[in-house]
Amino acid sequence: MFSKIASIALGVAILPSLLVSAAPTQLHKQQVTVVSNCINSGQVALTFDDGLYQYELDIIKHLGESKATFFLNGNSESDGDGRMSYNDLLLSALSTRGYKKMFLWSDDTQDGNSAPVDQSKGVFDLVAAAYPEPRMILGHSVYNSTANDVVPYGVDKLTTKGYKLVAVDTCMGNEGEWPYEWVGQPQTGKWQC
Ligand SMILES: *[C@@H]1O[C@H](CO)[C@@H](O)[C@H](O)[C@H]1NC(C)=O
Repeated sequence: MFSKIASIALGVAILPSLLVSAAPTQLHKQQVTVVSNCINSGQVALTFDDGLYQYELDIIKHLGESKATFFLNGNSESDGDGRMSYNDLLLSALSTRGYKKMFLWSDDTQDGNSAPVDQSKGVFDLVAAAYPEPRMILGHSVYNSTANDVVPYGVDKLTTKGYKLVAVDTCMGNEGEWPYEWVGQPQTGKWQC
């Protein structure tokens, strides 16, 4: 903490000469919010990274009436461990591209780190025990064991407990937003753009 204060003080000391060139860049840059948990009580957002691969449909089948959120590759940055990493530089790059939110997680099934299936299921046990605390759970849709073993177990465990499994925008309450763009009334028959 002390060294941070010291470096900020140093920054202020050299700031006046940088201020003129720094200000315009900051004006058109919006803040990228880092989200790592839901807000709404009784809601869990299941999120899946690294798709699209081949198990997304299996996951959707096991979800039934529940919802999940799939993050597609190209929208995520990974470090050497396969874990998401972020820093000011990344957030700044995302902001420049118009991204408004970056999603992390509150609970990780660790499937991306080759965790045994029972360990991943244990994450759902812990979340269920914490009902109705909101949670954001990370899994990866590239593993058959996640899609066809962990997910059906987890969905059953959480919904039996009373949780609603919703998309990330829903569980953010007023902080959420409709993620889709309205293009017109649904058409019947032949689709025309
Ligand atoms: C995927 O997992 C299910 C259930 O664990 C198993 O029945 C199936 O054979 C697996 N499929 C592949 C392609 O490994």
